[in-house]
Formats: sequence, structure tokens, C-alpha cells
Amino acid sequence: MTSVEDHRPNASPEHPDLRDYVGWHAAYDDPESSLSVRLRHVQRAILDWLDRTPGPVRVLSSCAGQGHDILGALEERGPQDRARVTGALIEIDPTNVAIAQRHIARLGLALSVVEADAGTTDAYAGLVPADLVILSGIMGNISAADIERLVHVSRRFCAPAATIIWTRGAQDPDLGPDIRRWFSQAGFEELSCQEWIEGTGMRVGVNRLITPPRPLHPDRSAPVSGSSPSTAENMPNPITVKGIR
Ligand SMILES: C[S@@+](CC[C@H](N)C(=O)[O-])C[C@H]1O[C@@H](n2cnc3c(N)ncnc32)[C@H](O)[C@@H]1O
Repeated sequence: MTSVEDHRPNASPEHPDLRDYVGWHAAYDDPESSLSVRLRHVQRAILDWLDRTPGPVRVLSSCAGQGHDILGALEERGPQDRARVTGALIEIDPTNVAIAQRHIARLGLALSVVEADAGTTDAYAGLVPADLVILSGIMGNISAADIERLVHVSRRFCAPAATIIWTRGAQDPDLGPDIRRWFSQAGFEELSCQEWIEGTGMRVGVNRLITPPRPLHPDRSAPVSGSSPSTAENMPNPITVKGIR
């Protein structure tokens, strides 16, 4: 079985165009790294959501990597909180999938890890709607057009009043203001948006759906024309995460 220590210096044979997203996680070994700073804030946002959301809850993490955010957050909680969280992590790299699965087993959580391309809505069938959608480490790696599409599509991943936690650094071009506007246009209110966290360029946004959710695959029940606005939410083009295509 592979371990995090076995991480490849280069792309994986399964996805030769994808950067080394196993080695990418090594930044979390350094608590001072900007990624560790971001991770702690995402975990804090997850715990805040858990505290204001009673009862059984469902989580969906897209491009979940090794799941440090949701798993690290739940590691801080006792059996009662751990038992009320179900859901899924979608991750394309098999080594990251295996690491997350081992972590989940160690914590005794009812979470599954699905090895799939999160860039198509098909990957989400049966895994949504979720009460919490985690989009961490995605928006810095895809185009502005794909971010806008992802924001609109994410409404289809949501249960009523679901929360989305997202990240996007301040790198040029700083798309933070655009992303915040897109969430508003997609029917979300902003609960918080922390920027330049602890002096890093990291940004963590928390938004809540305040409009009715939409079905995941509206095109299958009601065909839409290529130019209708809803088509833009059907993700006709896969979300592309840096290096995958
Ligand atoms: C920047 S990392 C973020 C990991 C995690 N969300 C975090 O914040 O710690 C991006 C992750 O997305 C995964 N990934 C990239 N393209 C993907 C795709 N099309 N579908 C699913 N996962 C993908 C990579 O393997 C990697 O683990």
C-alpha cells in the first residue's frame, strides 16, 4: 500500500498531465507554510459550520486531496460529532485516495472517497446534495471562466441552506472580488471572507445558499438549448485543474 512518504516527484502514470498532487501535500508538514495557514482556517470554518448545524449532516469535498481539511477538523471532535457527519470526497489521484481512506478508517468516519474526475457533474451523482461543500485548492488552478461555472454549478451540489467553503489566493489576477460576486449572483449570501490570512495571500470564503437548490442534472429531465443560461451551469466543459489537461 502506498504511503505519503512514497510520493512521486513527478506526475502520476495514471494522469501524466497532472502535477504531483501527492507531493503537493508535503507543504502541510510545515505548520508555518501558507498552505498550513489556509488549512487551519478552512478547518476552523468547517468546525464553525458544524457548531451551527445540528443533527445529521452531509459533506461533499471536491478535489479533496488527502482530505486534511474535513478529516483534520473532525479529528478535533468527539464521537458524537463524528457520528453525525456522512458524505464523500472526490479525488482523482489514487495515492491521495488511499491516504484519505486510511485516515477515515482510523477516525471511524462514515465518509467515502470516490476516485473520479470532479470536473464533470456525473462524478457527483449519488453524492449530493450536501449540507457542506468544500472547494479548497481548486480556484487557484482553473481559469476564471471555469471558476465562474463552478460557482454556478455548485448550487446543484447543495441541500437547502447549504454552506460552501472555498479558497482562492490573491495571486495575479486577483479574482477574489469576482468570485464573491459570482456567489452572490448564484444565490448565496456571504458569511465571511477572510483575506490576506496571517499575512499570506490566502483567502477563505464561506457562503450559504439562500435560494432554492437546483437539481444536479436538469439537462436530463428537460433538454435546454445551447444558448440558455442554465446550459452554462451544466458544466458542458469539464472543470480543468492545473496540469490535468
Ligand atoms: C491543490 S490540491 C487541493 C487538495 C485539498 N482540497 C486541499 O485543499 O488540501 C488539488 C487536488 O485536486 C486533485 N485533482 C486535480 N484535478 C482533479 C480532477 N479533475 N478531479 C478530481 N480531483 C482532481 C489533485 O489530485 C489534488 O489532490
